[in-house]
Amino acid sequence: MRIVMTASEAVPFSKTGGLADVVGVLPQAIARLGHEVAVILPRYRMTSVSELHIAIHSLTIPLGRKLHFPMVLEGPRQDGVRSFFVEYPHYFDREALYGTPQGDYPDNAERFALFSRAVVETAKILFVPDLLHCHDWQSALVPVLLNTVYAGDPAFRKTGTLFTIHNLGYQGLFPPNTLENIGLGWELFTVEGLEFYGKVNFLKGGLVYSDYINTVSRKYAQEIQTDEYGFGLQGVLRQRSAVLTGILNGVDYTQWDPATDSFLVAHYTPEDLKGKRACKKDLLEQFHLPAKDLKRPLVGIVSRFTVQKGADLIAEVADVLTQEDFYLVALGTGDAEYEALFKRLAEQYPKKMAVRIAYDNALAHKIEGGADMFLMPSRYEPCGLNQIYSLKYGTVPIVRATGGLDDTVEPWDPASGAGTGFKFSEYSGQALLDTLRKALAAYQDRAAWQRLMRNGMARDHSWEASAREYVALYQKIVGMKRAAAT
Ligand code: ADP
Ligand code: GLC
Repeated sequence: MRIVMTASEAVPFSKTGGLADVVGVLPQAIARLGHEVAVILPRYRMTSVSELHIAIHSLTIPLGRKLHFPMVLEGPRQDGVRSFFVEYPHYFDREALYGTPQGDYPDNAERFALFSRAVVETAKILFVPDLLHCHDWQSALVPVLLNTVYAGDPAFRKTGTLFTIHNLGYQGLFPPNTLENIGLGWELFTVEGLEFYGKVNFLKGGLVYSDYINTVSRKYAQEIQTDEYGFGLQGVLRQRSAVLTGILNGVDYTQWDPATDSFLVAHYTPEDLKGKRACKKDLLEQFHLPAKDLKRPLVGIVSRFTVQKGADLIAEVADVLTQEDFYLVALGTGDAEYEALFKRLAEQYPKKMAVRIAYDNALAHKIEGGADMFLMPSRYEPCGLNQIYSLKYGTVPIVRATGGLDDTVEPWDPASGAGTGFKFSEYSGQALLDTLRKALAAYQDRAAWQRLMRNGMARDHSWEASAREYVALYQKIVGMKRAAAT
C-alpha cells in the first residue's frame, strides 16, 4: 500500500509532545512491513532538517478571498520513508508551533487549513496514496476536504482516510466566520458537519468525514464515548462507534533503553541492575539534592503541568505528601499555577524536592534512568508514553487507571509476584496519596521490588506489533473504499 501520514509535528523534525514521537516512528515501522510511506509536515522555525530540496515550487491554495502559494520541500529519506515539508514562512516561521505563553496564535485556523489543503495537493501531485492517515485537529480538515472540495476528484476516488485522536482535549475551535477564511462553505456549519455549540470544530470534521477513526489505546477509545471523557463529542463518537477502534502506541527503544541510553551515566539491564544506582546518584546531583542517602526512594515526574496530567491532584495533597520519606524530582512546563506550586515545594523542602521548569530531553532520560518510581496521576491519558518508558527503565509507574495508563500498567500483587506498577481509579488526592504510600512501603522489600522492576522491564511495547495493527486497519479501510468505489 501507499500511505501518506500527516500531522503537525514529528521527531526528529519538530516536537512539543507525544504526538511527535508517534508520527516520527510509526511511518518507519510501517515501511519495514513492506509499504510505501510519505510524511507531510509543516516547516516551522524549529524544524531541524538538513538536505532539503524543492519538490514543488508553488502550490496555489485559495483561502477565503486570498490565494496563497506555499512551496513544498523534500527532506532526506529515513528508513525508506519520504518526508515533505510545507514551506510557508508567513504562517510557520514563528517562535513556537501553536502559540506562546500568552495564548494560541490568532490565525491557527488559517495556518492549519492552509496546511491541510497543501497536504491534499502535495499528495495529488507527488504521491497519490491508498490511504491518508491524519492525526489530531491540525490535520483534521484533510478528510473534510476530500469529501467536499475534492469530492469529485478522480485522483482520490479510492483513497481511504484514517483519523487518529491523540487528545480530545484539543479540538481546534474557532468562530463561525472562520469558514469563510479557510475556503469551506457555510453548508458545513451544521450539527452533522463542523458546527459545535456555535463554533467551528476542526477535530469534529475529522471525526465526521474520515472513513475510520482510532485512538491510541483501547481504554481511551471506550472512555471518549462517555460524558465524562468525551469533551462534548461523545455523541458524535457513539454514532461512529462501528468505525472507531483503539491501537496502543509503541515506543522507540532505540532511544529509550537503559542498556544503551547515551544520556545515562551508567547502563543496566534486567539481568544486571547495578548501573541504576549510579543513575540515581547522578539524577540527585543534577537536581542538587543530597546524594548521600541512596536508600531513600526517588519519585520522578516528567510532564506538562496541566490538569490533564493530574497537576491539580498533586497540588491538593502536596503538603501532606512532603511528610513522607522520599525524594521528588519534577521536570516540566505548563500552567503558571502548577509551575509555582512545584517551585514553592522545592524552596520549602530543598533536601527532598526539586523541580526544573524546562523542556529538556536529556534530563527526561536521566529521570527515567535514575528514579525508582514514576508518578503519572492523569485525569485522562489517551496513551501516555512516559509510563511505557518507565517500565523499560525499571522505574515503577504509579498511575491513575485511565486510558493508556490503565492498558499498560498492571497492578503489583505481592502475593503472586505479578504486576508492573501501582494504580488507582478515583480521581482524588486521597487515592493518589494512598497509592503512593503503598508503593513506598513496597519499596522496602528489596527482593520483591526488584521482581516488580523486572516484570516491567520484560514488557515489550516496541512499535512492530502496533504497526501490524495499523496495517491491518489500513487494509480494512482500503478494502471498504474500493468496494464502495466500484
Ligand atoms: P503528552 O503528549 O500528552 O504530553 P506523552 O506521555 O504521550 O504525553 O508524551 C510526552 C513526551 O514528551 C515524552 O516523550 C516525554 O518524554 C516528553 N516530554 C514531556 N515533557 C517534557 C519535558 N519537560 N522535557 C522533556 N521531555 C518532555
Ligand atoms: C497525546 C496524549 C498522550 C499520547 C500522545 C501520543 O499527546 O496526551 O497520552 O501518548 O498524544 O499518542
